[in-house]
Amino acid sequence: MKSIKLQDKVVVVTGASGGIGAAMAKEFASAGARVVLAARSQPVIERLANELGGPGRALTLPTDVADVSSVEGMVEQTLSAFGRIDILVNNAGIGYFAPLRQVKLDRVRHVFDVNVMGPLVAIQAVVPHMQTQGDGHIINVLTCAGRIPIPFQGIYGASKAALILLTDTLRVELAPLRIAVTGIYPGTVNTSFENNALREGDSYTLCPFESGCGSPPEVIARGVVQAARRRPRDAWFSFQGRRYVVTGMFWPGWLDARMAEVRDAVEPPPKSDRPWEDLLIPR
Ligand SMILES: NC(=O)c1ccc[n+]([C@@H]2O[C@H](COP(=O)([O-])OP(=O)(O)OC[C@H]3O[C@@H](n4cnc5c(N)ncnc54)[C@H](OP(=O)(O)O)[C@@H]3O)[C@@H](O)[C@H]2O)c1
Repeated sequence: MKSIKLQDKVVVVTGASGGIGAAMAKEFASAGARVVLAARSQPVIERLANELGGPGRALTLPTDVADVSSVEGMVEQTLSAFGRIDILVNNAGIGYFAPLRQVKLDRVRHVFDVNVMGPLVAIQAVVPHMQTQGDGHIINVLTCAGRIPIPFQGIYGASKAALILLTDTLRVELAPLRIAVTGIYPGTVNTSFENNALREGDSYTLCPFESGCGSPPEVIARGVVQAARRRPRDAWFSFQGRRYVVTGMFWPGWLDARMAEVRDAVEPPPKSDRPWEDLLIPR
């Protein structure tokens, strides 16, 4: 299979101030790409941009993906700085840990604004330019939580389920325009995602370890850069997640029973003696 060269390609990474996004920005930069670092935390992305070679190699664009004009501005400013966008990585995202019976509607809207509307606006803004270029690649960071019913992550999962269907539909719609679309399923990754998530009550959490849970973000970043070279339909980084998704399609009752075990282990007070981290999170 052909491997696409990333030297001097222009890559926009949303949510580049931390976690998977910052690791991806570094990995794209070391592959020779010019990176656009978009996030709300301006000092953080500026420090990272200096590390990656400063103006010319790394552009910082303070961006709130929940704000339509901010996302449109991110695309316009990238085009005025670099004249093109080769790869858009919709990575910025936010979790919401709460039972559905307790979620707050304004917070639900915010989660959908960040996880669904932000990527959609960015896609609508870049597609005409990629079409003119005759080439482009959109990479959306998804999650298994958008395909299986993980208790207390219903709103996060529903938002990512929406992004999954957008991704899969877009792939079909954009193929004639020579724009590739890849979905990334990272599995559990050791970032500040749980700390940064919205929450109702303190106790709903899937990772109780101070050292965190899951793969180092650098592993996912390397995989995403590889996906940028190969343009696969999807890239999965968790065997466990894929096993739940595939098995649950054929035996949904089995999946419900596994998720009930997670519910009993996570919902306070814990009702299960089983080490729930073995149920869902490979450590
Ligand atoms: N960690 C996991 O286990 C895991 C698993 C599967 C999928 N994912 C997905 O991976 C992606 C990255 O997550 P992560 O683990 O790296 O989480 P993280 O460490 O919390 O990083 C989230 C990033 O998103 C940015 N962000 C949040 N709200 C934003 C907004 N309104 N506008 C612009 N940027 C915003 C944050 O930057 P600012 O706060 O500076 O804006 C930050 O850079 C997310 O889409 C997440 O759903 C994560």
